[in-house]
Amino acid sequence: MTDTIKLRSQRWLANDDFRTANHRSRFMQMGFERKDWEGKPVVAIINSWSEFNPCHSHFRQRVEDVRRGILQEGGFALEMPSMSLNDALVKPSALLYRNMMAMEIEEMIRCYPIDAVVLMGGCDKTTPAMLLGAISAGVPAIFLPAGPMQRGHFGGRTLGSGSDAFKFWDEHRAGRISDAQWEGIIGGIARGPGTCMTMGTASTMTAIVEALGMSLPGASSIPAVDAAHQRLAAQTGRRIVGMVLENLRPARILTRCAFLNAITVAMAMGCSTNAIIHIIALARRAGHADVGLEDFDRASRRVPVVANIRPNGDSGYLMEDFFLAGGLPALMSRLGALLHLDEICVTGESLRVHVSPAQVLNEDVIRPLARPVYGEGALAVLRGNLAPDGCVIKPSAMSPKFMNHRGPALVFDDYPSLKRMLDDPDAEVTEDHVILLRNAGPKGGPGMPEWGMIPLPLKLIRQGVRDMLRVSDARMSGTSYGACVLHVAPEAWVGGPLALVQTGDLIVVDVPARRIRLDVEDAELDRRRAAWVAPPARFGRGYGRMFAEHILQADQGCDMDFLLTQTGASAGEPDIF
Ligand code: FES
Repeated sequence: MTDTIKLRSQRWLANDDFRTANHRSRFMQMGFERKDWEGKPVVAIINSWSEFNPCHSHFRQRVEDVRRGILQEGGFALEMPSMSLNDALVKPSALLYRNMMAMEIEEMIRCYPIDAVVLMGGCDKTTPAMLLGAISAGVPAIFLPAGPMQRGHFGGRTLGSGSDAFKFWDEHRAGRISDAQWEGIIGGIARGPGTCMTMGTASTMTAIVEALGMSLPGASSIPAVDAAHQRLAAQTGRRIVGMVLENLRPARILTRCAFLNAITVAMAMGCSTNAIIHIIALARRAGHADVGLEDFDRASRRVPVVANIRPNGDSGYLMEDFFLAGGLPALMSRLGALLHLDEICVTGESLRVHVSPAQVLNEDVIRPLARPVYGEGALAVLRGNLAPDGCVIKPSAMSPKFMNHRGPALVFDDYPSLKRMLDDPDAEVTEDHVILLRNAGPKGGPGMPEWGMIPLPLKLIRQGVRDMLRVSDARMSGTSYGACVLHVAPEAWVGGPLALVQTGDLIVVDVPARRIRLDVEDAELDRRRAAWVAPPARFGRGYGRMFAEHILQADQGCDMDFLLTQTGASAGEPDIF
């Protein structure tokens, strides 16, 4: 079946020498024989299943569906486990380990006889990690998303991942929800396998991968427990074999226009702020160093939010509703001329072939462009003397009254001191204050923990306050909401202006003008900068030290500097292998 293409795996298996015989011997050790692999593409099914990752708990079974598809199409399938990052369980932040997972996947592809890969991921950072690794390895790759979990449920109410946990936690703190009710809520909000079913980071990222063309059309919307997800897994397995024969590698799919499509779709989905970091990292790995914050801001001015899915909008729809409304192909058909539909995807065909026939089946879940959930894109990029390299805010999920705000800063250097204030019923804080948390960025966090949706002070919750302006160099969960300025770059830990703010300084935010300003004289800021002392290194050894020495700032995607060549392109495969 492979007369025209030379398989990479043949370097391990097809020669007539001692080393090759040993390789074949090791395959035979597992019960295989020549007929299993000879002349066939070796496809690694890279499976991020783990009992520490509930979002991927169905992958142990689903991998057999992928294998079925690969065998049906004449490939040779071998499962390969990868590290697994569950966003809810990993401390201090799964982003700290995204690049480690990416490096693991790149190097495992490189060092084994692998012709192509199926990437099984979905929980937040696993998606960009797997794709980053596959881009740099350069072999044909296709992504199988885990799929969103079922709706949450408690006491007759539908619950959405994250968003409702945050909301009811505040109600619990205010004494309006009992301990027993709270236990019922946390038991009912995650009812089975799959990723968070709001439009959080997981669903945003899998939609982005589909928009990039790296998974089968419609893949990102199918719920984890739906039988259609099993069929998707087998289809994915079948398709990767075809991709090997067509030599369809990530570099052919991941053009600059593909990334612009991803940004447009992200905006229309009301995406997680985390998407900015991951898209920039992916683009730069793929050799598009010119993809940056300005592309997001341009898109946000012209692309309305049309996916009416929590935490955007107030109708309470979740990913299952989105699937039944037609899923991502339907949303992309709605965006039409805003997209570059001539770009190709893993099928080898243009996006247009798959998107054009799609129909919106529920006009309230996927809104018309003329009746959006939010008139502009989900995210806005702010700049100013407090964030010279940019920061982000999510206007679609915040109180409009904070679109223009001027208030005194209440500054915290770490989370424990912030938490003491938040829990103090007599704290000196008003809703006009701007709560500022620093040393929570890429190096300071480390790994930018999702501390950016700073909880509201108990004192203000009891007064009925439900939003206020918060500023940090941290990230926030994609299921979060509120007037939270995030990803301030450069971060405080490396001496960014955030490090110079003092309690009582006035901070001015103007979202329509995309500005954020610290209202302090330049001369005074220079004096504070001269007095600033760099904090000591957090890590003396190991991965943490490598991360701290090489991690790039949020506006550059938080990749490692040494994983990018001078042009931002993949390092390729050295001849020594
Ligand atoms: Fe896994 Fe949300 S914790 S997707």
